Amino acid sequence: MKRRELLKSLGALGIGLPFANTSLGLPLLDYPAIKSSDFGDDFIWGVATASYQIEGAVSKDGREPSIWDTFSEKKGKIKTGETGAVACDFYNRYPKDIELVKKMNFDVFRFSLAWSRILPNGTGKINQKGIDFYHRIIDSCLENNVQPWITLYHWDLPQALEDKGGWKNRDIIDWFGEYSDLCTRKFGDKVKNWMILNEPVAFTVLGYLLGIHAPGKRGFRNLYPTIHHTAMCQSEGGRIVRQNVKDANVGTTFSCSSVHAYRDKKKDSITSAKLDALLNRLYIEPCLGMGYPTDGWKLLENVSKYIKDGDMEKLSFDFDFIGLQNYTRVMAKHSPFIPFLWGSQVHPKKRNVEMTEMEWEVYPKGIYEMIKKFKSYDGVDKIIITENGCAYKDEVSNGVIDDQKRIKFYREYLEQVLKAKQEGANIAGYFCWSLLDNFEWAEGYRPRFGLVHVNYENQTRTIKNSGYWFSEFLSK
Ligand code: FCB
Repeated sequence: MKRRELLKSLGALGIGLPFANTSLGLPLLDYPAIKSSDFGDDFIWGVATASYQIEGAVSKDGREPSIWDTFSEKKGKIKTGETGAVACDFYNRYPKDIELVKKMNFDVFRFSLAWSRILPNGTGKINQKGIDFYHRIIDSCLENNVQPWITLYHWDLPQALEDKGGWKNRDIIDWFGEYSDLCTRKFGDKVKNWMILNEPVAFTVLGYLLGIHAPGKRGFRNLYPTIHHTAMCQSEGGRIVRQNVKDANVGTTFSCSSVHAYRDKKKDSITSAKLDALLNRLYIEPCLGMGYPTDGWKLLENVSKYIKDGDMEKLSFDFDFIGLQNYTRVMAKHSPFIPFLWGSQVHPKKRNVEMTEMEWEVYPKGIYEMIKKFKSYDGVDKIIITENGCAYKDEVSNGVIDDQKRIKFYREYLEQVLKAKQEGANIAGYFCWSLLDNFEWAEGYRPRFGLVHVNYENQTRTIKNSGYWFSEFLSK
């Protein structure tokens, strides 16, 4: 779409019109040296979101609480004291939000299903109104010529299941099976692209070891069973999608960060190998039939206590694609004060490097390194970058958000993705995190990751200049 047509149609939508403020109607953007066509005609471009972070309407139409409702209502759990109760009110505003995906020239809208909207108690009684809502989302995507990509689980476990032990309870393999079977039967005619889990390392380690995400459990005794049950659901979910959805394209997503030894010292490289096993290898290796990565960190051997006869075969599944999600890198340093790991990461502040609002180091080469690492596994045929993005303090000035840092971030990361692709990695797509500013988990609404700004007082949407940058980039 040409810029002028884009502007006209944005005007019709009644959303921010920064271009109108310049004499030519054009902002002073730094145009990309790379072109989207460099990635190939069949490369797919998307924006990613997650149910609890955007939907709101937490008590509407039969939805019951998830662990994130319970957790965020507890004092002190969310830095800003906020919850996802209203979020971006996507539940009511989805038609215009999906139009924005198209307006910015993206092909794909990635979203997740809220398990407790569909099965309020986690299993059993089906909530037709929840099913209807996701049909409306899917239809709205299709009407806009945007492909719907579904994530089955992006962290909002029904509270009713957490009350029975959640991911610690082996029964979750059946619960998750029932939920996946239902969703694929309901939506599988219209939706061909599925992801099973979003970042299993993140929700298990933050939620069941460190207690800083829902459900707020702490300690390795909570983590070990959780790891195995999560890995079992990952492959089981893959099998269910393939069985129920004709011509399915099924993947799952992994967070990953290059881990480097801080100093050229053996002790730092040992810490680095442990962190690599935990952050990057823990869930991809069992799914590739390699078992859990105990060579990097012996402690992970404890997971084996939860493996039952026949499980090892069931752990693997040949996904059509691997979703790679990357934001930063980790520098590992030995420390005698931190039990179990005997090390820690050296905070970017201490290293005096460029950081985002999340205090994550900006390290574009890291995405290239992780693509190379994943590609080197036998059994990884196709990679899609299912999340990459950054939070910065955005200033709204006369209705314009000139987020040059975000544009620079995307351009530099994209250059590295392109480099890996040109060197032979089979990368089929790239999704930005995120469409909208949203509820950033334990950080609340302060970090803004959107290509579209959300004014939470009145729910106004304004496309940031990074969003216009993408619309321009994707038109070439
Ligand atoms: C990822 C999560 C996503 C969002 C981004 C910033 O780890 O998958 O929901 O919070 O980080």
